[in-house]
Amino acid sequence: MKSITSADLVTFVVDSREEAEHALAAEIASVVRAKPNAVLGLATGNTPIGLYRELIRKCATRELSFAHATTFNLDEFLGLERGHPESFHRWMDQNLFGHVDLPRERAHLPEANSGDAGADDDAVRYEAAIRDAGGVDLQILGIGRNGHIGFNEPGSPRDSRTRVVELHEVTRADAARSFGGLEFVPKRAITMGVATICSARRLRVLAFGAHKAAIVRRTLLDAVNSDCPSTFLRGHVDVKLFLDREAAREL
Ligand code: F6R
Repeated sequence: MKSITSADLVTFVVDSREEAEHALAAEIASVVRAKPNAVLGLATGNTPIGLYRELIRKCATRELSFAHATTFNLDEFLGLERGHPESFHRWMDQNLFGHVDLPRERAHLPEANSGDAGADDDAVRYEAAIRDAGGVDLQILGIGRNGHIGFNEPGSPRDSRTRVVELHEVTRADAARSFGGLEFVPKRAITMGVATICSARRLRVLAFGAHKAAIVRRTLLDAVNSDCPSTFLRGHVDVKLFLDREAAREL
């Protein structure tokens, strides 16, 4: 693992995704061992799948237990039934929750199906629930090709909290294939805000593949600006970015 020295974002370039996944899974295990009731922030998408596989393996071999942990996911599409094949509720069940000993009542995702009238209140309640749980100890993040973190799309303010957002066209286009067409991709979502995310005590960011190279460069080198919300990660007191060689190729 090679590290790139930068004033405000510790960056590691790894030889393989597995190297980053193993390192981060080991860190998560040590956080949870030191504090069994740790609060973890979770992401969905292609990026964390291998990490979750490694966490599942550690649980199976009893190197790790989530029995006393709590989790909060970053986001959820608005208007999908929980069982919808593309809902993040279902994705988390399939890729992590269904395979580890985390009690379901402590695995939180934003409520996404209480109708237009209730969504703003749900967002406020989600933010309060994170605060009441003592805040997030370690947040896992991916980066969207447009620089989003969670669903904080370009233009999201630095001081934003959990709220209802309109999804950006790039985000919807990236989701179109799995939804079976752009017309089936929801237009709105609930997401933790930029400030919510940056309140986590540790941020661990993963970016893999050549399709992330341009946004990785912007994340590290653009002026810190809401046009590229991932630039807001810079300057957090404890943030680490793990890249494979393809994602690092424009640095
Ligand atoms: C997922 C999330 C998003 C993704 C990002 C990258 O819960 O909040 O910000 O992390 O869109 O997605 P992948 O990993 O599919 O490239």
